[in-house]
Amino acid sequence: MSEFDEKSNFDDKKERTSNADEAGFEARALELEERIRLLEAERASLLIEREHYVRDLEYMRRELEQTRSTPLVEATIVDILPDGRAVVHSSNGPNLVVFSSQSITSSVLRPGTRVALNQRGSSIVEVLPRAQDTYVKAMEVLERPNLKFKDIGGLKKQIDLIKEIVVLPLLHPELFEQVGIEPPKGALLSGPPGTGKTLLAKAVAGETSATFISTVGSELVQKFIGEGARVVRELFELAREKAPSIIFIDEIDAIGAKRVDIGTSGEREVQRTFMQLISEMDGFEPLGNVKVLAATNRIDILDPALVRPGRFDRVIQIDIPTTEEREEIFRVHTRGVNLASNVNLKTAAEETEGATGAEIRNIVIEAGLAAIRRGSTQVQSSDMESGIKAVIRSSSTKSTAIYV
Ligand SMILES: Nc1ncnc2c1ncn2[C@@H]1O[C@H](COP(=O)(O)OP(=O)(O)OP(=O)(O)O)[C@@H](O)[C@H]1O
Ligand SMILES: [Mg+2]
Repeated sequence: MSEFDEKSNFDDKKERTSNADEAGFEARALELEERIRLLEAERASLLIEREHYVRDLEYMRRELEQTRSTPLVEATIVDILPDGRAVVHSSNGPNLVVFSSQSITSSVLRPGTRVALNQRGSSIVEVLPRAQDTYVKAMEVLERPNLKFKDIGGLKKQIDLIKEIVVLPLLHPELFEQVGIEPPKGALLSGPPGTGKTLLAKAVAGETSATFISTVGSELVQKFIGEGARVVRELFELAREKAPSIIFIDEIDAIGAKRVDIGTSGEREVQRTFMQLISEMDGFEPLGNVKVLAATNRIDILDPALVRPGRFDRVIQIDIPTTEEREEIFRVHTRGVNLASNVNLKTAAEETEGATGAEIRNIVIEAGLAAIRRGSTQVQSSDMESGIKAVIRSSSTKSTAIYV
């Protein structure tokens, strides 16, 4: 072996070992990087866990504080004295004259504001949100009726009027601004019982996306003895808060009837509720995107104050349906009915002069029952006849013969 050979052999060896070292380092570096990644992932998950514990701890602390703290006293401000103190009516009895905590800006303290007093009832420590009657809140129709204008037979003119007065101003207030007129505040549906007033209002609820708040006049005065006026006020507050909205007061004659003399306290209560309704509609606070819809079958006994301009500007009259309208109502109510081909709805309409929508619905139900009685699943024209007989006869024997 030459000297040269030996040298190259040596170099070779050196190179091989350095190659091996490098591979080893690289592997180690990779290993370490992998480890770093793992540790970082672990760190991140630990941080998240820590976050959870901190939140738990905070929650526990708050719980502990809440269970330890003694309750505050609820009160309503009656008056603000010139020196800044407030007269409050506390929920546990007497009226108190109290200071308010420095942390409360004095401008929010006004008569009628709901506040919390400290334990000893000596100072206002917190301003509470306005109490909202749960009953008033429940008047909002959350589950809209699956009822559309097409489910109403006839009443085309009335539907158009409602669209113009209630639906259009809510959807396109700019149209009224451009023309420069104030849109009507509301409409009063008037007509004999069973002609579809409540139905029309329900269809409005089903057709628009505006908040729909529905109540009945008699409930306003019967359920809340002594509080009808407050409920009306809160009703309008809720409507303003949730605008665009529609307030529907069915059977408004229960609160809006004119009275010759106000004798009993019950009558005075009704009167107060009525006055509140009037003042809400006249309102110093603009109604804005709130429309009021009401229905009555006794417009003759309504206080004329109710239909003065600026209140229920429009009266939408609904009359006993004409023959064509009756045919349409028959069509609406027989939509899902298994009718035999010999049933002629036009004839049925002609034979039911003076019948209302409600009676027509009953006729169809009676006809269906007659078919079932026969053991059939199809309504024949003879069933229709007996339905008409059953309903029309029973209504003509009623002592209140209003359908003449
Ligand atoms: N035009 C109509 N088209 C279809 N159905 C009608 C129509 N009018 C009345 N009906 C039927 O009669 C029922 C009763 O009508 P609704 O409750 O609307 O009467 P109303 O006018 O509010 O009467 P009241 O003055 O007694 O409150 C409705 O649920 C509906 O089934
Ligand atoms: Mg009704």
